[in-house]
Formats: sequence, structure tokens, C-alpha cells
Amino acid sequence: MLDHGAAPPAESPMRSPRPPVGGLGARLMRRKPVEQLVAEGGQGEGGTLRRSLGMWQLTMISIGATLGTGIFVVLGEAAPLAGPAVAISFVIAGLTALFSALSYAELAGSIPVSGSSYSYSYATMGELIAWICGWCLILEYGVSVAAVAVGWGEYLNELFGTTVGFTIPQTLSAPLGEGGVINLPALVVVLLSMVFLLRGARESARVNTIMVLVKIATLVLFCAIGFLGIKAGNYLPLAPLGITGISAAAATLFFSYIGFDAASTAGEEAKDPKRDLPKAIMLSLLIVTALYCLVALVAVGAMPWQDFTGTEAALAQIMKDVTGHSFWSVVLAAGAVVAIASVVFAVLYGQTRILFAMSRDGLVPKVFAKVDERTGSPRVNVLIVSVFCGVLAGTIPLGELANATSIGTLFAFALVNVAVVILRCTRPEMRRTFRVALFPLTPILGFGFCGWMMLSLPGTTWMVFGGWMAAGLVVYFGYSMHRSRLAVPAAPEAASAEK
Ligand code: ALA
Repeated sequence: MLDHGAAPPAESPMRSPRPPVGGLGARLMRRKPVEQLVAEGGQGEGGTLRRSLGMWQLTMISIGATLGTGIFVVLGEAAPLAGPAVAISFVIAGLTALFSALSYAELAGSIPVSGSSYSYSYATMGELIAWICGWCLILEYGVSVAAVAVGWGEYLNELFGTTVGFTIPQTLSAPLGEGGVINLPALVVVLLSMVFLLRGARESARVNTIMVLVKIATLVLFCAIGFLGIKAGNYLPLAPLGITGISAAAATLFFSYIGFDAASTAGEEAKDPKRDLPKAIMLSLLIVTALYCLVALVAVGAMPWQDFTGTEAALAQIMKDVTGHSFWSVVLAAGAVVAIASVVFAVLYGQTRILFAMSRDGLVPKVFAKVDERTGSPRVNVLIVSVFCGVLAGTIPLGELANATSIGTLFAFALVNVAVVILRCTRPEMRRTFRVALFPLTPILGFGFCGWMMLSLPGTTWMVFGGWMAAGLVVYFGYSMHRSRLAVPAAPEAASAEK
């Protein structure tokens, strides 16, 4: 039986751990009742998070976390894999995201807390799976912040090179092991984000909205100018490398959709999460997918797909080729710098809130759930996460770990699709502000697409992922399991012995 039981007693969520009662199996499978998750919403150590975000800000958080490196940089890497059909690859990757987004929307409307898929898994599949999901989310959010920050530094350097003819020397723009000492730009962008995040959710949302509007405007400008350079011949043959190429490109491009779920990490700071979270998730995905497909169609129409190979900043190059002026490529590069910085910002926000939820459950140290009374935000958490991600970005050559963010995300998405099915079966009566259409086909397809994308990723990525998961299990069995705040359900015999 899952969480059929009555709502839990209204105890403080920050109470001390109770002594475990059941055996190992019961501890690993303990589920957190939905009512308890919702009742604890916002409560941290010494204060509560402030509810200040409306539907618009939530949508902007998701777009902020999504639209960045994928479209400005990864598109250039995917085009040679699929040819002009790269636009189809965007649709496939978008479909993978769409099915999972529907599941996210249903769960975010039913369990509107900050832990996102971690909390959904805790309610439906038990603590061990929830931990694994949370551990994957650290790949999706924490590690990807560092990876995206490194990409941001490279883009910034290129912008400097093309505008003022100055580039940051390698000693200060690459970590040890890659010919430098520290990647200063990567460290700086994370610390700058931290400064804004420390001011609380409302201020963060304002900064985020400005950056999102800049990046959308940049891509619209690209489409308008690039459209003038389209040559019909560039679209033929449509799929020179066949379905294998299209699918490989889709797996690579899935990275560009990562982040649409970020709104679900803001559940405890939303004014009306049950109403607004599902809308924000779906709306952001819709806007992002439309922009991606449009940009991809214009890009492969304006530049032969073979020319993408070896072109670092393909979109900027297209702007230059079409207009004949490098000014427009600089405008585009500047927009990309803002775009990628905003991903760092919004994803960093998401990571802090996920750890907040995990900390409240006792699975990570309680300092992550400490709330600052003045700002109503988890400031210590923001400080620790930012310094950690900044140092990671500045000093470690991320290599394969960066690729592993996609596989970790896909795994978390797959779990969300399973969670929807479980919750519909175990809590059919629960009030849902959003329901996935064509249930159970949609979550099954969502699960299938995630599996297909995961299998399309290279073997080395799987090895890194395996190592990451093994490390996660060591942390769980060595630390988290013993500090969980959730009581273990009493075994039937133990319960009758107590009577
Ligand atoms: N989707 C995010 C990006 O493309 C991670 O930068």
C-alpha cells in the first residue's frame, strides 16, 4: 500500500529523527504522504520561504533555466549530425520533454513543493528512489550550472576577442589540467548570480525576467535577419545521415530543453502554486520549442549544414554572413552571453530549492533549510551552493561530467512519468489542477522517449553516470538513510506487539 493512510499529525517538519522501527526494506521504501509534503511547504529551519511569485515569474524561471547554451552553441554541434533535419531533431527532443512536462505539470499542481521530482518520487516510490532522483537532480542542476558557466566563459572570451581584440589569458580562463590555473569567468558568473539570489525570490525573479526578455529578443532578431539569407537548396537533402543522425542529434539537443522543470522548484515561493505551476511549465515549454524550431529552420536554411562543422558560434556567423557586418554578430554574441548567464542564474536557484526540500527531510544537512527572516530566502544554502558550483566551474575540467547532466535529467524525468501513474492509481480521488491527457498513454510515452534518449547517449556518458549513482548510494547508505526525518512504518508484528 502506498500513502493511503490518514494525513499525518501536524507536527513541526523540523522535528528530530524518530528511531526507525521497520527493517531495511521498510526504511528504503518509506513514502512521504502527499498531505505531509504539502503541509510542510515553505517551512524551513527558523523561518518560512516567502510566497511572492506569480504565473509570469514562474514561466520566466523555467525559460530562464532552459534557453541558453543549447540553442546558441549546441545547435552548431548537432547540425552536422542530422543535416537540415536538425529541426526535426529539435521536435523529437521537444516531444521527449513535452510528455514529461505534462507529467511534471500534473504533479506540480498536486504536490506544489520545492523539491520537484525528488518530492514526487518521495510521495510515490519511497525514500531510496527519491534519493536517487534528488542525486540525479544535482547532476541536472548543480553540475550543469558549473558546465554552463564554463561555456559562458568561453563565449565571453570570444565576444571580447571579436569586439575589443582582447581575450582573457589562458592562465585565468582555464582550470589546472587544461593549461590554466583557474577559470575566472566561470567562477565570476556563478558568484554574480549568487549576489542576486541572496536578495530573495522576488528580486531574483525580477533580474531573471529582464535577462529572459533579452535572450528572446536576441533570437527573434536572429530569425528576422537570418530569414533574409535562406536558400531553398540548403534544405536538400533533408536528412543526409538518415534516422540515426536525426536521433543522435536529438539526444544531443535534449540538453537544450533541460530546465523547463525549474518552475517546479519554486513551488513553495509561488503565490498560487496549484493553479500557476502547471501553466508555467507548459507555457515555457511551448515558447521555448517554438523558438528552437524557428531558429533551427532559419539557421540551416541560411548556412549549408556542412559549414556548421568547426564553426564555434554558428548563429553569430550567420548574422555576419547575411548582413555583411560584424556588428550584428557582436549583438548576437552579447545576447548569448546574457542568455547563458541567465541559465546559470535560474538553474542555481533551482538547485538551492531542491536541496532545501531534501534538507527538510533530513537527507542532506539541515543548514540547507535555514531561512533568513529578513529576505525569506535560504541564504546560507545559496552561499554554500554558489561557492561549491563556482569552485567546481573554476577549477575542475568537467569533461564527461557535463555530458552526464542529460542522462541524469532523463532519468529524473522518467521517474516523474512513473510517479504520475502511481499517484493516479493510489490516490485517484486527489484534487488535481492539471491532468495529463490520454492517460496512461502519455506518461508511458514520456517514459519510453526518455529511455530512447538515454540509450542514444554514448557509452562513456553511461560510465560516468554509473559512477555518479554509485557515489550517491554510498552517501545515502552512509549518511542520509540514518538521518531521515520520516518515520519508518511499523511492521505489522511490531505494531501488534506494541498494543
Ligand atoms: N537548457 C539549458 C541550456 O541550453 C541547460 O543551456
